[in-house]
Amino acid sequence: MAEWSREERYRRLEDVESTQLEDLKHQVASSKYRQTYHIQPETGLLNDPNGLIYFDGKYYVSHQWFPLGAVHGLKYWFNYTSDDLVTFEPQGPILKPDTPYDSHGVYSGSAFEHEGHLYYMYTGNHRDDNWERYASQMIAKVEKDGTIHKFGQPVIAHQPDGYTSHFRDPKVFEYEGEFYAIIGAQNNNELGRFLFYKTVERQLDKWEFVGELHTNLEDFGYMWECPDYFKLDGEDVILFSPQGLEAKGDKFRNIYQSGYIIGELDFDSLTFEHNEFIELDNGFDFYAPQTFVDEHGKRILIGWMGLPEINYPTDEEGWAHCLTIPRELSVEDGKLRQRPLKALEKLRTNKETALGYADKFSRMLYPYEGTQYELNIEILENEASEIYFELRTSRKCSTLITYNTREQKITLDRTESGLLPNNVTDMTRSTILDTPLKHLQIFVDTSSIEIFCNDGERVLTSRIFPDEAATGIKTSTMSGQVYLQFTKYELKGER
Ligand code: FRU
Repeated sequence: MAEWSREERYRRLEDVESTQLEDLKHQVASSKYRQTYHIQPETGLLNDPNGLIYFDGKYYVSHQWFPLGAVHGLKYWFNYTSDDLVTFEPQGPILKPDTPYDSHGVYSGSAFEHEGHLYYMYTGNHRDDNWERYASQMIAKVEKDGTIHKFGQPVIAHQPDGYTSHFRDPKVFEYEGEFYAIIGAQNNNELGRFLFYKTVERQLDKWEFVGELHTNLEDFGYMWECPDYFKLDGEDVILFSPQGLEAKGDKFRNIYQSGYIIGELDFDSLTFEHNEFIELDNGFDFYAPQTFVDEHGKRILIGWMGLPEINYPTDEEGWAHCLTIPRELSVEDGKLRQRPLKALEKLRTNKETALGYADKFSRMLYPYEGTQYELNIEILENEASEIYFELRTSRKCSTLITYNTREQKITLDRTESGLLPNNVTDMTRSTILDTPLKHLQIFVDTSSIEIFCNDGERVLTSRIFPDEAATGIKTSTMSGQVYLQFTKYELKGER
């Protein structure tokens, strides 16, 4: 893809001819990789989910957005509303880079409710003439008629002493009657940290620095992006996206990670006693997730199905990335479980089932096929040493999921998936399950696959770019038989 100059990256949407934008829209709409039930940008680049909330009977889901092409440029928030988190109404850009404090990007942030109003707290990104970065934390109020009122000044003007201007992504929560924000930061030794701020008597324009959270992660990457704190099933949980970890065996193989620590957070001493960092997703494309509470009181997670600094096959078409499907979180046996949002069942049509054996000679070949579906596979008996599930197969393509029974290891192999992001090393991602594989619930859209193992014990999320003829589903084994129950639904999305 042609290099973008700084000037091109920082061009405002409002300064672009409408015909140019229309042309881009047409080009993007004709892409054969457009998703059908995932949130994706109409044009340009989508990254982090932002401002997730159930407010006044409606869901609000925004995301980071650079409208003019598949590069990280001047960021806006693009907003959707929804009644059910299954279908979404695009509302357009809701926060724009239109003040001196966010002139170089309305960066990530969260939503909260105060006295019946919806508010956003986000990072204002500003650069000076020497391209020096300044980060401040800002608040915007959403009026009942939808108009946005940004507070005139940042509510946190800059990072505290001892930290660099990598200071961003406030996640607001309430604790003992005050609003708190957990903010991703980097200290002067270039180590990732969490900083806590809180309001003074719930005044949204008065925030005081509470301090740095003490964790067991002294030296764990150079920046911690997109932190999220919540209490779930009696445990304190922090999700975050650390940058700068080295790969260790099957762990940390993507350019950047996202995961969680779980334990007990003491707000008085600002100390978190927690378990080891666990990755939230073991696939190729997952970053910067954010959570919120739904209308039923469930904790829901949505992530960015992409990563920074990777070129994707759709870049040339003027768009990149999508959000994941929503996942419901719970804590079970000290770990997070992630199950697909139940309401997604609304998308199901054309149920097909099959029951049978697969072995190394007879590839179980299913009559049904597809490009947008949910596939549930129950492993009823397993005497195979390895089981192979191939999806989106054609003569040229196959996306391969391998289960190694002895090691209890699941591997996603993208070698033959079709077009590939061009600067990702190695073609597989693997993880060892806690329990033998009994169940796979797989969501396939035009250019993605989300694999839930054993009822949310592990998830592997990836973009794939197969040809349109790649519709087949196949199963076989290395040796020994496996007895399987398949249930497949076509998924009818609207996008
Ligand atoms: C994570 C991130 C955030 C930042 C935003 C900018 O992907 O780098 O830390 O706020 O993206 O788009």
